Amino acid sequence: MACKYQLLKDEEGEVQRHGNYYEEENDSTGCSGATLPRTRRLFVNVAAFVVVLMMLSCGVHKFFFPGASTADSLPRKGNAQKIPSTTQGPFPPTTVSFDESLTFASEDLNASNPRVQRKASEMEPEQIFIALSGDDAMWVSWVTGEAQIGQKIEPLDPNSVASVAVYGTESGRYTKTVNGSSEIYNQLYPFAGLDNYTSGIIHHARLTGLKPETKYYYKVGDPYLGAMSEERSFTTLPVPGPKSFPARIGVIGDIGLTYNSTSTFDHLMMNQPELVLMVGDLVYADLYVTNGTGAASYSKEFSDTPIHETYQPRWDLWGRFMEPLASRVPFMVIEGNHEKEPQVDGITFASYQARIAVPHKESGSPNKFYYSFNAGSIHFVMLGAYIDYSRTSEQYAWLKQDLAKVDRSVTPWLIAAYHPPWYNSYTAHYREVECMRISLEALLYEHGVDLILNGHVHAYERSNRVYNYTLDNCGPVHIVIGDGGNHEKMALTHADQGPEFCPNPQDSFDEFGNCGFSFEAGPAAGKFCWDRQPEWSAYREASFGHGIIEVVNSTHLLWTWHRNQDIFNGVGDQLYVVRQPGICPNQPIV
Ligand SMILES: *[C@@H]1O[C@H](CO)[C@@H](O)[C@H](O)[C@H]1NC(C)=O
Ligand SMILES: *[C@@H]1O[C@H](CO)[C@@H](O)[C@H](O)[C@H]1NC(C)=O
Ligand SMILES: *[C@@H]1O[C@H](CO)[C@@H](O)[C@H](O)[C@H]1NC(C)=O
Ligand SMILES: *[C@@H]1O[C@H](CO)[C@@H](O)[C@H](O)[C@H]1NC(C)=O
Ligand SMILES: *[C@@H]1O[C@H](CO)[C@@H](O)[C@H](O)[C@H]1NC(C)=O
Ligand SMILES: *[C@@H]1O[C@H](CO)[C@@H](O)[C@H](O)[C@H]1NC(C)=O
Ligand SMILES: *[C@@H]1O[C@H](CO)[C@@H](O)[C@H](O)[C@H]1NC(C)=O
Ligand SMILES: [Fe+2]
Repeated sequence: MACKYQLLKDEEGEVQRHGNYYEEENDSTGCSGATLPRTRRLFVNVAAFVVVLMMLSCGVHKFFFPGASTADSLPRKGNAQKIPSTTQGPFPPTTVSFDESLTFASEDLNASNPRVQRKASEMEPEQIFIALSGDDAMWVSWVTGEAQIGQKIEPLDPNSVASVAVYGTESGRYTKTVNGSSEIYNQLYPFAGLDNYTSGIIHHARLTGLKPETKYYYKVGDPYLGAMSEERSFTTLPVPGPKSFPARIGVIGDIGLTYNSTSTFDHLMMNQPELVLMVGDLVYADLYVTNGTGAASYSKEFSDTPIHETYQPRWDLWGRFMEPLASRVPFMVIEGNHEKEPQVDGITFASYQARIAVPHKESGSPNKFYYSFNAGSIHFVMLGAYIDYSRTSEQYAWLKQDLAKVDRSVTPWLIAAYHPPWYNSYTAHYREVECMRISLEALLYEHGVDLILNGHVHAYERSNRVYNYTLDNCGPVHIVIGDGGNHEKMALTHADQGPEFCPNPQDSFDEFGNCGFSFEAGPAAGKFCWDRQPEWSAYREASFGHGIIEVVNSTHLLWTWHRNQDIFNGVGDQLYVVRQPGICPNQPIV
């Protein structure tokens, strides 16, 4: 049979792929898939190691903090001409198998690790986070006082400590002062033997009137108690506009708090992002029961608990773990299923809602489960997969008007992010959110969304441009990047490996419906799963890592996936996403 794909060739006639070369590997259909030869990987590893040695010899410190050196002075990836672009696609499906030299397990850090120990005393601020709040403001969040867990907890009084932030453009000179708000939340379990939790005091303050591309210095805390933080700083993003290109946006998913999470975090930090997107599943406090015992699988280890318990002190450890970067660079978070953390009386997402500041009011959203924001030339829509997304929902109405308001002459790029992927060929969570896809995909397509970022599946996958399971040059590229390194298993098997690896369509359901179906046409007609890597799946590899978005201009955006085992600047997968205004009717000319 004829193959649909042409292998990419560069000028020298070599088969090329993201700066490396791939070898053909014929499958039974006669169509080529491709795998990267080990020798190339080794080269990347060695090169990355040399870079780290160079870093160490010229002082690793300056690589850690934004502002210490410019992004342009970072070591660059290989020959830019070899980076493929979507205009050359669709690409033949490629699978890179799990690197057997890595240890599969990812172990949680515990409370005695220096990275997560509570160093603040009394009402000193800790767990400082920032997040964008509209185009000229920044949320800053922090925690004071000690959380309690046990049989006799006494909630702290949020009004017992002030929520003051001071800031200005000169170190040590704070020309502005703002009072924020404070709250606490509880995680209560009315079941014999289970412990209750009450949080420290969580503060949110909004720093307003910020100028673009300006460095601000700030402190937070309670000046009346003499409990102010050390000074921190951040640099604001460029004003939204077609020529405003934030240099680096980091993307992480499903990070958790393991030794592998610390590796992902350190790699991300070394890549000096100006902004970070977290596509859900933050802490995994729900892999623990209230006595502080954790497991890689809750359902296997704790099958008979009266409710799905959590161990909330993990959130405080995680807040300390993230702070070194999150207090300097805005973190934009969207909820995952692990943030649900059910309590009795239908209470869910209590910790997420209390701790995480997002610009939902700023973007006209009624809640923290979906919102939008601009970052330079990009408009981001962050969607909620665990709140009604049906055509009659509040979320749908909000999304529709938010997308309608986007002016592509100001923000030519449109990126959507939500937790569970629509295009995922691993067994884990395969076609799990078909109802959400069926409800929202057309809307995103009509508005010419360029890129869709997801987590949930603990591996990496990049799609070809696709719409409604059909290759489409004007459809978005979907990226699964749930490979932050959490304590649950990595996704290793693919739904196309055989019937035993293919989930049942009836299991494709959530509280909003059951929409699993077998394909009507195409190579997988009559089936729920393909019998080989689907044509929409361009590249998949089970490894831990993070992503970086770099906008080149209004038509070119560079996506890079960095793997943890590549030490520093190595590239696991890379692609130019190219907009084709004029060619694609959904990508208006700007
Ligand atoms: C996870 O981290 C451990 C300990 O640092 C390491 O040995 C292992 O190879 C890592 N696993 C992966 C898949 O990166
Ligand atoms: C915490 O982790 C360290 C390092 O892995 C280990 O030595 C220690 O026993 C752990 N402590 C607890 C209480 O589990
Ligand atoms: C903040 O609150 C304090 C104490 O209530 C008050 O004295 C101060 O004027 C407030 N500052 C601002 C900027 O609102
Ligand atoms: C935890 O809180 C619930 C709800 O208020 C209560 O019923 C239960 O007795 C508390 N448990 C403990 C151990 O205090
Ligand atoms: C904690 O609770 C789990 C599940 O109920 C139980 O298996 C475990 O033995 C308990 N651990 C401790 C230290 O009490
Ligand atoms: C998607 O494809 C299915 C069947 O292939 C079709 O029934 C459906 O109408 C299509 N949806 C859209 C929005 O085009
Ligand atoms: C964007 O950059 C690419 C690559 O450098 C270039 O080919 C393209 O013409 C540029 N597009 C615009 C609109 O400037
Ligand atoms: Fe998830």
